[in-house]
Amino acid sequence: MRNWTSFGGQALLVSLLILCLGIPDVVKSQLSTDVYDATCPNVFQIVRKEVKKALRSEMRMAASLLRLHFHDCFVNGCDGSVLLDGSDGEKFALPNLNSARGFDVVDTIKSAVESACPKTVSCADILAIAARDAVLLSGGPFWKVLLGRKDGLVANQTGANNGLPSPFESLDQITAKFAAVGLDLTDVVALSGGHTIGLAKCATFNTRLFNSSTNGTTDKSSMDADMLTDLQNLCPQNGDGNKTTALDRNSRDLFDTHYFTNLLNNKGLLLSDTSLLSSDAAETLVENYSTNPTLFFKDFAKSMIKMGNISPLIAPNGEIRTNCRVVN
Ligand code: HEM
Ligand SMILES: *[C@@H]1O[C@H](CO)[C@@H](O)[C@H](O)[C@H]1NC(C)=O
Ligand SMILES: *[C@@H]1O[C@H](CO)[C@@H](O)[C@H](O)[C@H]1NC(C)=O
Ligand SMILES: *[C@@H]1O[C@H](CO)[C@@H](O)[C@H](O)[C@H]1NC(C)=O
Ligand SMILES: *[C@@H]1O[C@H](CO)[C@@H](O)[C@H](O)[C@H]1NC(C)=O
Ligand SMILES: *[C@@H]1O[C@H](CO)[C@@H](O)[C@H](O)[C@H]1NC(C)=O
Repeated sequence: MRNWTSFGGQALLVSLLILCLGIPDVVKSQLSTDVYDATCPNVFQIVRKEVKKALRSEMRMAASLLRLHFHDCFVNGCDGSVLLDGSDGEKFALPNLNSARGFDVVDTIKSAVESACPKTVSCADILAIAARDAVLLSGGPFWKVLLGRKDGLVANQTGANNGLPSPFESLDQITAKFAAVGLDLTDVVALSGGHTIGLAKCATFNTRLFNSSTNGTTDKSSMDADMLTDLQNLCPQNGDGNKTTALDRNSRDLFDTHYFTNLLNNKGLLLSDTSLLSSDAAETLVENYSTNPTLFFKDFAKSMIKMGNISPLIAPNGEIRTNCRVVN
């Protein structure tokens, strides 16, 4: 079993490879990579160090940080709104309740950044850097994170309930939600590859396990028989819906292409994962990514930059929160 530091070594090689290939045309943006060069030159080192520390105590945190950035960006743009506490917060929206995690780690990163450069770096930018570092330290690609977002002043629980995709939706419904924030089918497939790390609860897929009319069957694929038996044991009917299992059974902590090979081998976990095989265009991408890690890494990085660019909140709007959980 390899430990996380060896993933870091591999990550470095892979990122050098990606750098040599070049990340294709960064989308035109009001954000830029050098925003904090003068005001907080060490921000990248500080965030990297804190993310490393967090992963050393729990490797799953990489997945949780990546997902937080995604859930932030899909609701009112990447504005740190997911981080706000309060009963009207996005934390209580269905896709996040008892599910989104990593808030304490974000607090720790924010404190470290505040000590070095007070009132300078937004929580939204910290999430974007932390998500990149989480992917890199899991063996995934490097990309240059665009920065300069301000933190929003409101959470949007309704927006989170309506805007975030559900694991029970069809590919068309999911694609529509991505399109609503300017992301296309390639982004859907590439970013779904984020499910190469992390865990999901029984409650998010157990409808697939005991439905005598379907038993894991979806449009094109039924669930692998051994996997079905495993999951029926892990997630019995009327059992604990909070129990978790790996989204990528092959390598839960490693950012690789197994998510896509799993899909092609009927080992996708969520219905929304398997639904990527329900359209020829999406399936072609799944097939390409499954055999071409370089293409997957390049497209994932590109889509992460695009996602990070959803409706950026730019000065004079918004603020730099000092505590990510509350507006100043
Ligand atoms: C395409 C539509 C998507 C759907 C329907 C979806 C749904 C889900 C669900 C249901 C879970 C399990 C949550 C739980 O059981 O607590 C999950 C976990 C996760 N998702 Fe997605 N997701 C989607 C897209 C994405 C994207 C775009 C990313 C990031 C690029 C992402 C990253 C993750 C990660 C890393 C986890 C594991 C989190 C952890 O272990 O803490 N997902 N997702
Ligand atoms: C919340 O999000 C929805 C989109 O789902 C948007 O129409 C609405 O204006 C947002 N509300 C606030 C207060 O930002
Ligand atoms: C079983 O699957 C069918 C067909 O997809 C669906 O209509 C039905 O609601 C499912 N039943 C349960 C209990 O999940
Ligand atoms: C589906 O799984 C249930 C529970 O294991 C089993 O009783 C049922 O016979 C299965 N149905 C089919 C069609 O395989
Ligand atoms: C999971 O745990 C939470 C908090 O303990 C609880 O409120 C919730 O009902 C549980 N959910 C499921 C699906 O069992
Ligand atoms: C995916 O593979 C197909 C067939 O090999 C090829 O025609 C297509 O251009 C590839 N798509 C991408 C995005 O690389």
